[in-house]
Amino acid sequence: MKNELPIIEPFRIKSVEPIRMTSSSERAVLIERAGFNLFRLDSVDVIIDLLTDSGTGAMSSEQWAAVMRGDESYAGSPSYRRFEASVREVFGLPFVIPTHQGRAAEHILFRTLTGPGQVVPNNTHFDTTRANVEATGAEALDLPCAEGLDPTSSYPFKGNMDLAALERCLVENPGRVPLVTMTVTNNAGGGQPVSLENLEAVRALCDVHGVPLFLDACRFAENAYLVQQREEQARGMGVREIVHAMFALADGCTMSAKKDGLANIGGFLAVRDEALGLALRQRLVVTEGFHTYGGMSGRDLEAVAQGLREVLDRGYLEYRCATIRYVHERLSGLGVPLVSPPGGHAIFLDAGRFLPHLPWSSFPGQALAVELYLEGGLRSCEIGSLMLGRRDAVTDAELPAPLELVRLAVPRRTYTKSHLDYVIEIVRRVWERRADVLGVEIDSAPRVLRHFSARFRRERAATPSLN
Ligand code: F0G
Repeated sequence: MKNELPIIEPFRIKSVEPIRMTSSSERAVLIERAGFNLFRLDSVDVIIDLLTDSGTGAMSSEQWAAVMRGDESYAGSPSYRRFEASVREVFGLPFVIPTHQGRAAEHILFRTLTGPGQVVPNNTHFDTTRANVEATGAEALDLPCAEGLDPTSSYPFKGNMDLAALERCLVENPGRVPLVTMTVTNNAGGGQPVSLENLEAVRALCDVHGVPLFLDACRFAENAYLVQQREEQARGMGVREIVHAMFALADGCTMSAKKDGLANIGGFLAVRDEALGLALRQRLVVTEGFHTYGGMSGRDLEAVAQGLREVLDRGYLEYRCATIRYVHERLSGLGVPLVSPPGGHAIFLDAGRFLPHLPWSSFPGQALAVELYLEGGLRSCEIGSLMLGRRDAVTDAELPAPLELVRLAVPRRTYTKSHLDYVIEIVRRVWERRADVLGVEIDSAPRVLRHFSARFRRERAATPSLN
């Protein structure tokens, strides 16, 4: 057997942020005060923050140097030119429209292309994408492949679109599908990658029906790296080349630079068609800003321009995916139910199987997330019936999500292996006492994106009957 060197963090630390340690009795008070909703906690009360990998990464010294170069001119700033050049170089899409983050790009795109009575298929919409599609009166349709709905399947491309279902949707809704979207990697579906083969097949269906294809590109580099590792046809291709191949199939993309842009804020729309590009810019100037800065400052544009290049570094991507794999392997070894195989940005605990005594209506994902906080100050995120549950169109009754997951999203270049060993230990401790974990019920919640602000009560422990 080859004696391989361990994969280490490919960076040194120049600036540190102290972590405030809390006691379990302190955390019991804090989480109750937050209505058992981790979004309502103050971050200083969290020990390891795995709520999201969005905007929480550490920037490199080169990015900070670029920040100092930021030119804040209202129009025609050289920072915009560098940003535009970087996006064109990486994605090969000519019209580049900066927005303050991904959802602003979604808002502008869907406001321009969709409306009432229309249907937008996606492998799986993320929450903000769904909200933006639905806000225009269109239907957001999730069409994940069957393997994507089975947490135990080790299929390497569980982010793929169900091609037969997409074809059916296109045939049954002539003229009602304004665009097809694909999320790479499929965040809500477990951070799973989409294969080049699947993207090509989706493109072919779009061509037959004359419908444009857009990619939700948030984690494009992680997707390309996993394609390189797992897909036969990509063997021997570089990650950059795979990114080009992916985006050559698309008419455009929306991007949150807070993920694979390695920045703390920022996003963009990039499209191939000039007329569409100009229409999107018209909207941009109303809600975001003039088209050479959109929703960003010059220094943010610079940080993203540099981040998009760094994220494609082979050593970085190797380390990034090895980190996720490491936690996945250790937790799997303990018997903890997970979404397999490991994806690019997060470990997804399968709360449905972790807490089989809780029905979906007791929000097992939220209950588990609360418990991980109580045990070790870990902040995670429910991705289950709380975040993705729907309502029946006729009866308005609540419907469950297909899976009850808890996402441990790993911020980029932020935590070390010892932090992750701590995370593994906290999950292990909750796993050991899983039978005692209580469900939660909603106290109050808004109808749209309720997971951000809902308040909960913990359900009572079953007490032995007295008679
Ligand atoms: N699309 C996907 C797949 C996402 O994961 C996100 C954000 C967005 C769009 C919206 O981008 O936050 O910049 O407006 N996801 C974050 C997360 C919030 O935690 O997964 P944004």
